[in-house]
Amino acid sequence: MKLEIAVLSGDGIGPEVTEQSKKVLDAIAHKFNHTFLYKEALVGAIAIDKTGDPLPKETLDICGNTDAVLFGSIGHPKYDNDPSAKVRPEQGLLKLRKSLGLYANIRPVKAYETLLDKSPLKKEIIEGTDISIYRELTGGIYFGEKKLSKDGETASDLCEYSKHEIERITHLAFKAAQTRRKKLTLVDKANVLESSRLWRKVVTEVGKQYDDVELDFLFVDNAAMQMILNPSQFDVILTENMFGDIISDEASVIGGSIGLLASASVGDKFALFEPIHGSYPQATGKGIANPIASILSAAMLLEHFELFEEAELIRKGVDKSLKLKISTPDINTEYENVTTSKVGDFIADYIEYPEDSNINFQNIHIGQSTII
Ligand code: IPM
Ligand code: MN
Repeated sequence: MKLEIAVLSGDGIGPEVTEQSKKVLDAIAHKFNHTFLYKEALVGAIAIDKTGDPLPKETLDICGNTDAVLFGSIGHPKYDNDPSAKVRPEQGLLKLRKSLGLYANIRPVKAYETLLDKSPLKKEIIEGTDISIYRELTGGIYFGEKKLSKDGETASDLCEYSKHEIERITHLAFKAAQTRRKKLTLVDKANVLESSRLWRKVVTEVGKQYDDVELDFLFVDNAAMQMILNPSQFDVILTENMFGDIISDEASVIGGSIGLLASASVGDKFALFEPIHGSYPQATGKGIANPIASILSAAMLLEHFELFEEAELIRKGVDKSLKLKISTPDINTEYENVTTSKVGDFIADYIEYPEDSNINFQNIHIGQSTII
C-alpha cells in the first residue's frame, strides 16, 4: 500500500516522539513492502513563530491532500501564562479538527500487565482495564460562541450540540461496542445541562438500533470517581468534547503514564492520529519523553487502513519493550539512559527481526546488545 502522511510534529517533545513513529512506520514499510511518504508541515507555537498563524493555509492544504495526518503535540508556556494572547498554539489544533471534520476522537485506555505497579492506583483496582473512550471533538463548549464583555468583567462560552452531531459519533461508539464487550456508557451532566439531556435522548434513540449493546448513563462527576474506583467496569465510554478531554487525562493514570495513550480522530473524510499528551516543554530535547503514545498512534493509523497485521506487530514491539524495560524514565526507574530514541530504535528493530532481536534484547541493559 502507498500512503501519503502529513506529519505535523508541532511543539515541545512533538518532533522527537514523532520521529520515533516514523522510524517504526519505516520498519513496517520495509518489512511489508509498503510505501509511506511523509509531508512535513508547521502547526502550533512553531508555526506562529515562523508565519504568525498556528495553522498556516499551506499546512491545511497538505492535510487535505494526504491520506492521513500524524500529529505530535502543541503548546508553549509563553502562551499558557498570558491570558490576553490573541493567537494561541491550541487554536491551530482546534481549527484543524474542525476543518477536517474530525468529530470522533477515540482514546483507548489499557492497564498493561507489565506496568501494573507503575500506576499510583492499586493493582487490584486497575487490573484488566480496557476502555475505549469516544470523545466528541468538533462541538460543545470548545466551539460555541465565546464572549468577553467590554469592561472585561464577564465572560461566557456556549455549550451547544445538534442532534446530528450527537448521532454520528453515537453510531461509531455503538459499532465499536459491538466488536468489544457490548457495553456503552454515556457520560454527561443531564441533571443540570440541557445539552446533556439532548445527548441522553438522542443516544437512547440511536441505541434501539443496537439492541445487543447494553447502554447505561453516568453523570460526569460520578464517572470521574468510578474511573479510579473501578475502571474495569467500563467498556466503551461516549461523551461530549470537554468531559472527554478531562476523563481521558484522568484515565491515563491507570496505564501508569500519559506517555502511553494514543488516539485517533476521525471524520467522514479525514483521519488524524496523535498522542493524547501535550508538548511537555520541560522535557524538550532531553531524550526523556515517552514515544509510545505516538508509536501507538501510528499503529492506529495503520488499523484505519486495515493494515491489521502491521499494527499488531507494532503493539507486540511495544509490549516487548515494556517487558524488557526498554522504557523512558516516566515508567522506568530501574535502568537509566533509555532515551526516547532508543525506545524507537528497539521497536523498529523488533519489527524487522523479532526473533533475532529476542536474543540480543537480553543483553541490552548490560550494554552488550548489538541493537541499541
Ligand atoms: C487534547 C488537548 C487539546 C484539547 C488541547 C491542546 C487544545 O488537551 O487533545 O486533549 O483540549 O482537546
Ligand atoms: Mn486534553
